[in-house]
Amino acid sequence: MPSPSRPKLPPGLKPAPGSIALILGSGFGDIERQCKAAARVDYADIAGWPRPSGLPGHKCRLTQGRLWGRKVLVFRGRYHAYEGFAPRQLALIPQLAHALGATTVIVTNAAGGIRPGLNAGSLMAITDHVNAMGINPLVGLQRLPGAARFAPMAGAYDPTLVSALVKAGKSAGETVAMGVYAAVLGPSFETAAEVRALKAMGADAVGMSTVPEVIVARALGLRVCGLSLITNRAGSSDDSHEGTLKQGTDNAGRVANVLRELFGLLA
Ligand code: HPA
Repeated sequence: MPSPSRPKLPPGLKPAPGSIALILGSGFGDIERQCKAAARVDYADIAGWPRPSGLPGHKCRLTQGRLWGRKVLVFRGRYHAYEGFAPRQLALIPQLAHALGATTVIVTNAAGGIRPGLNAGSLMAITDHVNAMGINPLVGLQRLPGAARFAPMAGAYDPTLVSALVKAGKSAGETVAMGVYAAVLGPSFETAAEVRALKAMGADAVGMSTVPEVIVARALGLRVCGLSLITNRAGSSDDSHEGTLKQGTDNAGRVANVLRELFGLLA
């Protein structure tokens, strides 16, 4: 049974209590360039971290520094279960964020819209999630220091942060809808029947990431906020990774504007 101890801090990175950890999803990597970096490390150079699979659009490195006036840890890229990483490896990012003093985690992702009106280009504040991945990153992490073994997930997405995200959208001239994000394992996209099933489960959008990180972040007591960019209608014939990435890069500036406003609202 793997039982990771407290993560070793990568050389050059220092604990910075009260930091915001920002996990950047597909196509949003460039937001990291706006960071005033104090330290930078490739995921592949962090002890115990696996080499990312190198999908286009997933250049993976961590930057510690300041962004929009706040202390940050910007995680550019993430580990996906569909790449073959073990559930406990999906815990590495939130574990390190916690060890480096983050108190808030902001997760971003690309997602397929299920609810009518959530179309390519829509923004959605995540109010809750459905874990339809069939895995849980806490499995095998019973002895994760500081983590609850049976972590409650009610209210996982801080309601104050959800409201702040919607307000940040208004300040940035954007409409930020609210909705439930369902995570599936992937890497295949959903059939029409699966989209109907997810809808019946209460999902408004679907993606292949985020939920494992949120589960670990909540188990460690971090405040969580999530923003999805809708890149396609889920279950449509034009679903593609390339299309998702293009939507991500085309809309990264809008996502950045909303996040900048959000940072201004965070206490
Ligand atoms: N399904 C799953 N993941 C996704 C989608 C989708 O339609 N779009 C972007 N990520």
